[in-house]
Amino acid sequence: MGLMNRRQLHQTLLGCVATLGIPRIALADATEDLVAREGRARLASAKYPETEVWAFGASVPGPTIRLAQGARVSRRFVNELPQPSSVHWHGIRIANAMDGVAGLTQAAVEPGGDFLYDFTVPDAGTYWYHPHNRSWEQMARGLYGALVVDETEGAPEVDLDAVLLIDDWRLTDQAQIAGDFGAMHDWAHAGRIGNWITVNGDGARSHQVQRGARLRLRLVNTANARIFSLETRGLEGWIAALDGMPLETPERLERLTLAPAQRADLIVDVTAEEGEEALLVSFERDGGYAIAGFPVRGLARNARLNDPTPLPPHSVPALGALREARRTELLMEGGAMGGMRGAMMGGRMMGMRDMAAAGKVWAFNGMADMGDTPLIEAERGETIRVAMTNDTAWPHAMHLHGHHFRQVSPDGSVGPLRDTLLVDRGETAEIAFVADNPGDWLLHCHMLEHSAGGMMTWLRVS
Ligand code: C2O
Ligand code: CU
Repeated sequence: MGLMNRRQLHQTLLGCVATLGIPRIALADATEDLVAREGRARLASAKYPETEVWAFGASVPGPTIRLAQGARVSRRFVNELPQPSSVHWHGIRIANAMDGVAGLTQAAVEPGGDFLYDFTVPDAGTYWYHPHNRSWEQMARGLYGALVVDETEGAPEVDLDAVLLIDDWRLTDQAQIAGDFGAMHDWAHAGRIGNWITVNGDGARSHQVQRGARLRLRLVNTANARIFSLETRGLEGWIAALDGMPLETPERLERLTLAPAQRADLIVDVTAEEGEEALLVSFERDGGYAIAGFPVRGLARNARLNDPTPLPPHSVPALGALREARRTELLMEGGAMGGMRGAMMGGRMMGMRDMAAAGKVWAFNGMADMGDTPLIEAERGETIRVAMTNDTAWPHAMHLHGHHFRQVSPDGSVGPLRDTLLVDRGETAEIAFVADNPGDWLLHCHMLEHSAGGMMTWLRVS
């Protein structure tokens, strides 16, 4: 079988995506309701009961919303959950009113209520959606799904295009979701780290491929807090995009760190022999484990394919002169082994004990709640620099809403466009972006227990 053209690709995608266990896809404008409700999912093997989950469309993950660049998403979110909720469209550059942040861009949608999300998608790439109200509980219960925007031209030719939503669940020995969402120990340490990894809601994922086939794997880390350190075996290739944004030159894939909320588009060729299994492997301190398997049956081609060309770039405004740009510092403090004594809450200074009683264990610039004043008030079009210093004992996955940024190195060179950056303990990481999207936007740690515990601030773009 030769490489496919786009039409064949779309036809095959319908087949492939179905076998990958993603329930529904829409290739045209997405107009169905998006209903969040309680449901059941088979996360573990058949010897366990099904897991009671909260889910979009009652399946985990929720429906993959797939459409072409420039098309319109129009989805009425219907909340059938027992809690207020909302939908945030992570990483896609859309109008502030559609950003889905309960308490900042909209009121939370009450149980029984609904809200119409209606926007066009400016950029092709891999994005996702999730609630932005009590996210540490609602996402741990299974509320998330993929938003995939197809290139209208310049899409790489591949034999399989698959979304892999990688999640980390904390399950009881009856495979039920552990109910300890507010556990302060998690909040003050690494966040809610689980004990069961799924890909697309499946704990033992395997997908058959052919030797020599070229795959586009769209990885999304949907875990509350786990950082994945990924390698492949029998799959060789490139990273073509990070956080939905194409790299100028695809980068050779070796080890890929995927922090919570980060995405990577991989273009890989199956190099494992027929009869073997290619693997996506995650490494932890104590070794590696396969999180997805690709049994190799049959031969797609013998010839080696050409290296992929870059994905078409997005029209993100270029950074202005960095030397003249406003520079703001963000000091991250608190957590276990952090040595923070206290922080401001509700306008007054509180000690750690009182903070913890109020569910706060972290602070940004000495504040454990967001307050009414933004970290930055930016003129529209202004280039903004934020130097984030992690003075805690834990890594943090810092996410900016509504914009993509570049990391600025001390020598002034800049990295690729991203929306979420892992800042290691003791590290200062500086980002720069053009504040071109008017509205109020969050900047927070995407380890969900950390953001709820105080690692959240916001900025206003006029
Ligand atoms: Cu993935 Cu503030 O969000
Ligand atoms: Cu964090």
